[in-house]
Amino acid sequence: MRIRYLGHAALWVEAGGKRVVFDPFLSGNPNCPVKPEEIEADAILLTHGHEDHLGDALDIARRTGALIVAPVELANWCQANGATRVHGMNHGGSYEFDFGRVKMVPAWHSSSIQRETGPVYAGNPSGYILSAGGVNLYHAGDTALFGDMELIGRRHRIDVAVLPIGDNYTMGPEDAAYAVELLKPRYVIPVHYNTFPVIRQDPQAFARLAEQAGAQCRVLEPGEEWDV
Ligand code: NI
Ligand code: MN
Repeated sequence: MRIRYLGHAALWVEAGGKRVVFDPFLSGNPNCPVKPEEIEADAILLTHGHEDHLGDALDIARRTGALIVAPVELANWCQANGATRVHGMNHGGSYEFDFGRVKMVPAWHSSSIQRETGPVYAGNPSGYILSAGGVNLYHAGDTALFGDMELIGRRHRIDVAVLPIGDNYTMGPEDAAYAVELLKPRYVIPVHYNTFPVIRQDPQAFARLAEQAGAQCRVLEPGEEWDV
């Protein structure tokens, strides 16, 4: 599996000749070196409806025909707003796609789509376990630390955990390091930090905590690729 970090919570993953993009917040993120027009994708996985995750998903889906996988209410909203191929899921459910197996797992957060007329309900926020190319990748989405991460780690061999460390809206570095103890991944990638002043963090300080917690930490710069 090849993982390219696109900044914030966005990842571009390639495995078995298929490409999956998580939470493509690209044009709105000045730290992202990749333009939405450069993204080729078979699928787009959305953890929740907030703008820093939904991002350019609709434009990428319209141009590439990529399937949008999302919590069912968000999937329906995407379909009503121009995405032709959507697949709704809910917590605890798995599905075998042509790009890999996806399990939707809970995340402790909120989820809505901001419109001028007010927020639109977007279902429950989620995380994903993507199993592709022999690798199990857990993308936690935006979440607090929660005890059932231990259950996720017991039920699944997590090779790579992608965890938010920004604090304020999600876990901060210390809680994310505790999440590593619960999940027991081989590798951890910190995300959702340094995009805005309010989520400024030192990823190297988190890396030290994560390594004390038993995982190897990969701090990726926006645009950087890593083969696992
Ligand atoms: Ni959010
Ligand atoms: Mn967010």
